[in-house]
Amino acid sequence: MTVNSNDAAQGTLTTLKSYLDEQLGISSQNTPHNESLAALLNDIGRACRQISQALNHGALAGILGSAAQQNVQGETQKTLDILSDKILVDTLQQGGHVAALASEEQDDIIPCNPDAAFLVAFDPLDGSSNIDINISVGTIFSILPHVKLGQMPTAQDFFQPGKQQRAAGYVLYGPSTLLILSLGQRVDVFTLDPKSGEFYLTAEQLSVPVDTQEFAINTSNQRHWHAPVTQYIEECLAGKTGIRGKDFNMRWVGSMVGDVHRVLSRGGVFLYPHDRKNPGVAGRLRLLYEASPMSFLVEAAGGAAITGEQRILDIMPLQLHQRVPVMLGSRHEIERLQGYHAAYVKPDLD
Ligand code: AHG
Ligand code: MN
Ligand code: MN
Repeated sequence: MTVNSNDAAQGTLTTLKSYLDEQLGISSQNTPHNESLAALLNDIGRACRQISQALNHGALAGILGSAAQQNVQGETQKTLDILSDKILVDTLQQGGHVAALASEEQDDIIPCNPDAAFLVAFDPLDGSSNIDINISVGTIFSILPHVKLGQMPTAQDFFQPGKQQRAAGYVLYGPSTLLILSLGQRVDVFTLDPKSGEFYLTAEQLSVPVDTQEFAINTSNQRHWHAPVTQYIEECLAGKTGIRGKDFNMRWVGSMVGDVHRVLSRGGVFLYPHDRKNPGVAGRLRLLYEASPMSFLVEAAGGAAITGEQRILDIMPLQLHQRVPVMLGSRHEIERLQGYHAAYVKPDLD
């Protein structure tokens, strides 16, 4: 679909609001939960527009750099991590469509409206080491059902496998601000028009090619990798003359949103495996607000997402800030990686 700025000005493009009304069948039936989901997603869009504006102002607004505090995971928070978190918490609390929030930047959940049908877990600003160098960052969100309607949620209510998500997505603050959204069946892309503040549908039904010649992994961890990952990457690097019989390219943005967006746009694999660097820690990325929503999107676009051994969307979370190994992207590559993991016996993985 080709879009030009006149389309937006003439009102011929689909707005996020009209897309949600249509996809969630709001005008046709009495669907209070769907109405509430649409309103919640519009609230997320509004919050991310504010975050986008803050990022655009950058140093002019005095909001770059590190704050003098750490989050529950011992990471130094950037001023913009805290600001983005506050914008999302305030907007979603005021909107009234969420029973509780879980954020990377908050130790515990934030209970909101017990009568609301949804729980939201989010990474307010992903890729925060890239903020100060003006490279793409993003917001990742996961929407789960609030099963015990009427009861104030606890952290346990967030412990649902990712396949139960009602919607997931991210906003990528890059050269343009994009919202990538899935309600489960398909993945669609919206572009923020900075003039009107409206998100417009600009690409539909993303599809991850089953094969690829591009991988993404932080190779500075190579000496810590387990054998299946070492084997896979060595074979990619061997290129045309190796057993893969083709050359591979490598990309690493360092913001998961940027790396996953590339995978959704043109295929590839993105790996953040468990390694021996921190044997007691299962990878780098967090299940509830990074791995799970991204896996939901990648699967909805025809790709696959595993830890090495297990489908990420089947994992039952045990902790709010639990980490998991992540391998996602083009299906045939992920199947190959799963095969390599299955072929190795456990001692090698410890
Ligand atoms: P966050 O900024 O939310 O803590 O997440 C950063 C994550 C993710 O965006 C990225 O893929 C990964 O950290 C990069 O890790 P390395 O610095 O180890 O490459
Ligand atoms: Mn992150
Ligand atoms: Mn973050």
